[in-house]
Amino acid sequence: MNSDFRYIRVKSEPHGFGASIAGISIGEPLPAVVLEEVKQAWARHLVICFPDQPLSHEQLEAFTLQFGHFGVDPYIVAMEAHPHILEVRREPDEKAVNFGAQWHSDWSFQEQPPAGTILHSKVTPPVGGDTLFADGCRAYDDLSETMKGLLDNLFAVHSARVPYGKDGLFAKETEARSMKIVISEDADKIFTHPLVRVHPITGRRALYISPVYTLGIQGMSRGESASLLSYLYQHMVQDEYIYRHRWTPNMLTLWDNRCTLHNADGGYDGHLRVMHRTTIAGERPIGVISA
Ligand code: SIN
Repeated sequence: MNSDFRYIRVKSEPHGFGASIAGISIGEPLPAVVLEEVKQAWARHLVICFPDQPLSHEQLEAFTLQFGHFGVDPYIVAMEAHPHILEVRREPDEKAVNFGAQWHSDWSFQEQPPAGTILHSKVTPPVGGDTLFADGCRAYDDLSETMKGLLDNLFAVHSARVPYGKDGLFAKETEARSMKIVISEDADKIFTHPLVRVHPITGRRALYISPVYTLGIQGMSRGESASLLSYLYQHMVQDEYIYRHRWTPNMLTLWDNRCTLHNADGGYDGHLRVMHRTTIAGERPIGVISA
């Protein structure tokens, strides 16, 4: 248990990546001193969870707004009367691949991708359904100085085309899906972001790329870019950088999209899984050098 905090009890995962927070109820607005501690814990551990916190839609929205404005969530139809809550749902007999089943950082194809995502578990399966998180900061820190020197100067091209474009994965899907996905030409838009992102609060550097949304590296040939990205993806998702998050019902988890990747692990065919998701608006990614 971490004793740096006065109002919250923080139990951290090994390496400090991921932590569970107890000692407070998040269904009511948090007093400023408590919120400040939660934000410090989030900055330190990048993925924080609050077990045993039943929340109404309104409470989930109010909790989110304590961290900033809502993010903009495209391509998925939100819950009726709650335009900022997405239901991540998979029925027991659903055959479509579970949503989020590839390493990604949420909406990194946006000009200002969400700083954080909040997922609140409503129904958790008895087996599987974990979310894996990869620590982009430690993955960066462990690279050689030569590799860091190269990457610090690079920009990566992000787009929603591969999953959400007219010829994308969801457009080609043949199995029925309970989540309503919106296929759009808009998904072809690209945004270029620093490949190494500097965290606006901690100043830590992190690899900011993902196999889902990164199309390539600016100024490199297709082959160069594919080889370098493939090496970096393998490096980033080694066991030592992964935190496997196991859900229980009524758990709220908040993660930092600026320096982590996540991947919904699946493995719960035959069981219902229901989560409610909001995002917290973020800033335009800052790099080591300016664009
Ligand atoms: C997501 O990628 O937002 C979904 C994560 C999950 O369902 O575990």
